[in-house]
Amino acid sequence: MIAMKEIYRKWYEQVIKELEVMNGIRWRKLGKTPRAILISGMGGSGIVGDYVQTLASKRVEVPIFVVKDYKIPMWVSSDDLTIVISYSGNTRETIRCYREALKARAQVVVITSNGLLKEYAKKDNIPLIPVIQGLVPRASLPSMLIACLYVLEKFGLPVVSRDEIHESIHVLKEIHENELLSIADKIIGKIPVIITVTDYSPLAWRFKNELNENSKMPAKVEIIPEWAHNDIVGWEAPYNIEKYIVLMLKPRIPTDELSLQMLNYAKKYFEKQGLNVIGIEIAGKSLLAQLLYGSLIAGLISVIVAEKRGISPITTESINEYKNYIVKYFTI
Ligand code: PA5
Repeated sequence: MIAMKEIYRKWYEQVIKELEVMNGIRWRKLGKTPRAILISGMGGSGIVGDYVQTLASKRVEVPIFVVKDYKIPMWVSSDDLTIVISYSGNTRETIRCYREALKARAQVVVITSNGLLKEYAKKDNIPLIPVIQGLVPRASLPSMLIACLYVLEKFGLPVVSRDEIHESIHVLKEIHENELLSIADKIIGKIPVIITVTDYSPLAWRFKNELNENSKMPAKVEIIPEWAHNDIVGWEAPYNIEKYIVLMLKPRIPTDELSLQMLNYAKKYFEKQGLNVIGIEIAGKSLLAQLLYGSLIAGLISVIVAEKRGISPITTESINEYKNYIVKYFTI
């Protein structure tokens, strides 16, 4: 398998390739524009739903819900679309949601690189969107994200423009890795508290997950303004404060004054409590470009941390153990 860092460095190529794949698909006649959309997936596949939900909330009127579980909500019906995403195609929770969505008579589209879901979708005559093969799920984020956005477009719900996709390709090429080395150094030995505003919420979760899976370390996420209504109190009389480090994700070019003031408030608050706050600037004009740029930074930092700790970023033994344990409780 190619080194994780190389895969991240080539993310812009993944976007280009997935666009080519999408353009080559002969789409069968799809159903009507759905009443609501459910996106089902776990881990590195499930996060795609979070990105799409955030992006779509500003552009389309159809509500999007994300399920990271083995059960779908009871409102799902033939009026709705369920997009099932599993990179491996073998994740039991996601396969169960696929089955439930079919049972609820929802329109279903599958995004996968392989596995049982690919087999089932073919057998059940369900539209199947292929993504880049041979990677670990989290490393294929651009491919799965573009695929999912394309599905929405095919259902008459364009979420991003071609210009925004091209901008994203551009920003993914523009990372200065040297700046990431010192952030990695500061994180090692600490528990990062990743804090940001609601628009970047999927990015904060993604950052945490990357530190968990690639760097093998715990991390915590806080989203402003909700942070100011609970977590903020937890730092009034904390213990082991030296264990934590705050990573604040903020746009390089802020456009929303209110968000900016909230971030400034949080920074001052943490510093007053004695915590070190590292600001991480997210480049890009469009939200799509910002989310992809931020995800790449998160990926690279997490891999640099792993390298410095002498750990493989690719293997995720505990996830495999869990999957092997739980498989017997899922009858397919
Ligand atoms: O990134 C990872 O490796 C994991 O978070 C997986 O995405 C998760 O276990 C689900 O697997 P899959 O994406 O193959 O459905």
